[in-house]
Amino acid sequence: MSNTILVGAQWGDEGKGKIIDFMTEQADIVARAQGGANAGHTVIVGKTQYILHLIPSGILRKRTTCVIGNGVVVDPIGLVEEIDGLLKAGIDPKGRLHVSDAAHMVFPFHKALDAAREALKGKNKIGTTMRGIGPAYGDKIDRVGLRMGSILNPKRFSEQLDQGIKRANAMLKALGAKPVSAKATRESVLKAARRLKPYVANTFQMLHEATAAKKRILFEGAQGTFLDIDHGTYPYVTSSNTTSGGMCTGSGIPPTMIDSVVGVAKAYTTRVGEGPMPSEDNVVGDLLHGMGREYGATTGRERRCGWFDAVTVRQAVMVNGITDLAVTNFDGLDTLPEVKVCVAYQVGSKRFDLQPTDLDVLARCKPVYETFPGWQKSTDKIRKWKDLPLNARRYGQALAKLTGTRLRFASVGPARSQTITL
Ligand code: IMP
Repeated sequence: MSNTILVGAQWGDEGKGKIIDFMTEQADIVARAQGGANAGHTVIVGKTQYILHLIPSGILRKRTTCVIGNGVVVDPIGLVEEIDGLLKAGIDPKGRLHVSDAAHMVFPFHKALDAAREALKGKNKIGTTMRGIGPAYGDKIDRVGLRMGSILNPKRFSEQLDQGIKRANAMLKALGAKPVSAKATRESVLKAARRLKPYVANTFQMLHEATAAKKRILFEGAQGTFLDIDHGTYPYVTSSNTTSGGMCTGSGIPPTMIDSVVGVAKAYTTRVGEGPMPSEDNVVGDLLHGMGREYGATTGRERRCGWFDAVTVRQAVMVNGITDLAVTNFDGLDTLPEVKVCVAYQVGSKRFDLQPTDLDVLARCKPVYETFPGWQKSTDKIRKWKDLPLNARRYGQALAKLTGTRLRFASVGPARSQTITL
């Protein structure tokens, strides 16, 4: 591996954290380039479970450097909490964690605005994670955001923060929501900012120098392809580019310096929040929820579940340039006598092999299924591809073929050791 991008090929929660953790063994640097604390990566090492929102999961390996790139929106208070959580677990990120001076910040008033705007949308709400992501990216695009580099000049930062609080409170009032306390916001943000000073760096320069020194970078994509602001099921998306191109703009590493793109997909489909999901099916939902699976790492919300949707993953392969597919959660389907795959959509007599852009049309799409025989054997203890039941192997290869890529990893459980390389 040299420079690799890892992206979610569905609607997020594909098990990226686990695959990244596995691939980190061959990386010198793990970088995030978009999203913020809306992500929740669960990594299990030995008996300990870590849930990371902003810090790349590479931090759990001692020799790995971690970068939070310019495209990420950083909640300074949340980041300090995460650092403290790591310190408690005996992991000191200082010297190994670098946050871009150009990354924008998320403040408590962004979260308040997130909630107020969702409330205003009523039944048309997006179902955001309430982490202030949309309002923070909104300020960035509106050119009124504050970047991490500002905290290096405390006087100027404090003035800019005051302006931000004023602006946000005016908007909150206009939305009929409660303004945030200027005093409490200032205190909590300035306290966090003081702690974060040693982590702020020019990560653009750092990444280019590292590449020149033949260091290998692994880009840790957050959310998933269909939550991308441009390529997702708009408006039921997040506010960043979650696809491979977003990793380039969000880090300053150009496409010509990327060697491979790994796409992660579950052996079935899940989605949190609102928006169309053609292969949604209660049979899959009841099965997985009954096993205690598919509850969100960030919000605890029950995820919507359905069969593997080859239409979406096929499109994800195209938009991201996925060279290798990682299929996770094979073990979730272990008990089923038959497993379905949505191979196309149908509206009336019209068939779609790719997602229609018009959301109303997508909402009317009916799945066209192909049925595969199940394997009805538990797979969670299997460590080699050749030892998986034949029907599970056939199913995995069919998913790669239907989506136009190569199967590279199969995951049969949440632990690092439960990852099979082909
Ligand atoms: P936001 O990113 O909090 O603005 O939420 C926008 C949409 O993206 C909502 O449907 C969220 O549920 C979804 N979303 C955001 N982050 C994640 C994630 O990491 N996994 C799955 N869904 C996510």
